[in-house]
Amino acid sequence: MYKIGLFTDVHGNDLALKLILKEIEKYNVDEIISLGDLIAIGPNSNEVLDIVTKLNNFSSIRGNHEKYYLFGFSNPLSCTESTHQDWVKESINPHHQSFIEGTRYQINKTIEGVKLCFMHYPLRSTEPVHYEYIVHNPEASDLDNLFKDVDADVICYGHEHISSFIKGKKLYLDVGSCGCPYPEKDITRGLILIIDNGKVEYIPLKLTYNSVEVVKDMYRKEMPERDFISKNFYLYKK
Ligand SMILES: [Fe+2]
Repeated sequence: MYKIGLFTDVHGNDLALKLILKEIEKYNVDEIISLGDLIAIGPNSNEVLDIVTKLNNFSSIRGNHEKYYLFGFSNPLSCTESTHQDWVKESINPHHQSFIEGTRYQINKTIEGVKLCFMHYPLRSTEPVHYEYIVHNPEASDLDNLFKDVDADVICYGHEHISSFIKGKKLYLDVGSCGCPYPEKDITRGLILIIDNGKVEYIPLKLTYNSVEVVKDMYRKEMPERDFISKNFYLYKK
């Protein structure tokens, strides 16, 4: 039996990350994989990196926000979005740069004959790197099309922030955001993937918590876009 603890889209929310890691710990997993976007949106990207870089048997996929950190933000939706990304970059201790550089767009593994693929979201181009546009509320046929080029039995991904577990030609597990959930607020999500004698099982994790300290940190640190982000992603109102 092989167990993998998964989370994605932590987005600078160290409180949610600590909660989900504590839950994952109960399952005695063989390894932990982050599916990308550890940083940005939330106030504590550096603290998140401090935590994950100390984990054993841990690897991380590169999300669009790690891509922005490394290569810049080519077409921001607004100038405040750019200001937010610049602030995130400045908030991260430069010693974390090599960890972010070591993230990969995709990890493939074969466990007990089952082909697994871990990614943030499929890429529509590799040079330069662009992620596919998000398909909201996907049906199995949408995901069959989106992941048609991925050679795997099980695909674990994130990016949309909403969790879904859909069987099409492959099994598609959207873990749902750990630190910036949608549509529900003040929950954190993760997933335990179990391969047992070639059989695939999964246990979605979902915990509720109080985001007050996360929102307070946004204001204490004067994070750009704090009004928009706290209003849309967290229950606590300053
Ligand atoms: Fe994200």
